[in-house]
Amino acid sequence: MKITVIGAGNVGATAAFRLAEKQFARDLVLLDVVDGIPQGKGLDMFETGPVGLFDTQIVGTNDYRETADSDIVLITAGLPRKPGMTREDLLMKNATIVRDVTDQIMEHSKNPIIIVVSNPLDIMTHVACVRSRLPKERVIGMAGVLDSARFRSFIAMELNVSMQDVNACVLGGHGDSMVPVVKYTTVAGIPISELMSPERIDALVERTRNGGAEIVNFLKQGSAFYAPASSAVEMIESIVLDRKRVLPCSVQLNGEYGIDGTFVGVPVKLGKNGVEKVYEIDLAASELEALKASAAIVDENVQLLDSILA
Ligand code: NAI
Ligand code: 2OP
Repeated sequence: MKITVIGAGNVGATAAFRLAEKQFARDLVLLDVVDGIPQGKGLDMFETGPVGLFDTQIVGTNDYRETADSDIVLITAGLPRKPGMTREDLLMKNATIVRDVTDQIMEHSKNPIIIVVSNPLDIMTHVACVRSRLPKERVIGMAGVLDSARFRSFIAMELNVSMQDVNACVLGGHGDSMVPVVKYTTVAGIPISELMSPERIDALVERTRNGGAEIVNFLKQGSAFYAPASSAVEMIESIVLDRKRVLPCSVQLNGEYGIDGTFVGVPVKLGKNGVEKVYEIDLAASELEALKASAAIVDENVQLLDSILA
């Protein structure tokens, strides 16, 4: 098993370190466009081996030849939004980065599973899928696991119960249009509507929607990375160990939920072949509408990328 992480920034480096500790792969490559950063971080992680007691071979590099024959590639490369930059500027810049990264991955690995973290998430996953020409089951976006983790942690905090017993279902695109599905959100199987008032549920849903912004407001520079990196690692674990976890991930729909060809977050089974099943769950009419609206936003943005994807 060989895993490559593209982007040695906050999310990439944190994910790489967790992957090394978990020893999911003998070979772990950390690649970034900036000279020295992946080499320095990679060596620092490698030197943790004797005290962390792992034998993962970590290589930090700027050279895609080191990524050859990767089984799984995690793409975290991207730019943050800078003052004066519109969302559209950022979309174009990150789409160009993800396009070029994907092209270079595919030059050196025949049939990897690609997991995308770069934002805007659902659109970047579309870019990686189009450019890689991989079957859609092998290109997966990470967002729902993170958004659900945020919802779960807020519920556990509110009820003072173990996070382990809280299950949440957050669907849709990663962003303001995400769709937390309250009826499938439970504590040890008990629907949260039996444990909390509708007002408190609404407040936690709202906090989940703004979960990314809440962290940015604290950090001032940069965005969340511990929970995002851990969420990506949870997906990788399910694939590497063929655990067949059912997790909300951004995948290309093929008519499910009345959506065709768009990447959007829905529950899927993740195993050694990538996406092994897409679950079409029963949603209230308003939730289905919200999911479709979320997909429509992804579609509108994808249409802006014609020049980049041509
Ligand atoms: P960061 O700025 O710390 O790291 C990004 C890294 O990408 C930098 O080291 C940069 O040098 C590298 N990079 C830029 N262009 C590259 C290229 N062409 N090839 C290789 N590396 C390149 O950012 P951070 O916090 O790690 O976030 C990474 C991305 O993940 C951002 O787009 C962010 O918005 C997104 N994100 C998505 C989440 C999700 O839920 N899907 C959650 C958290 C972050
Ligand atoms: C987040 O949700 C920035 O997408 C990132 O934290």
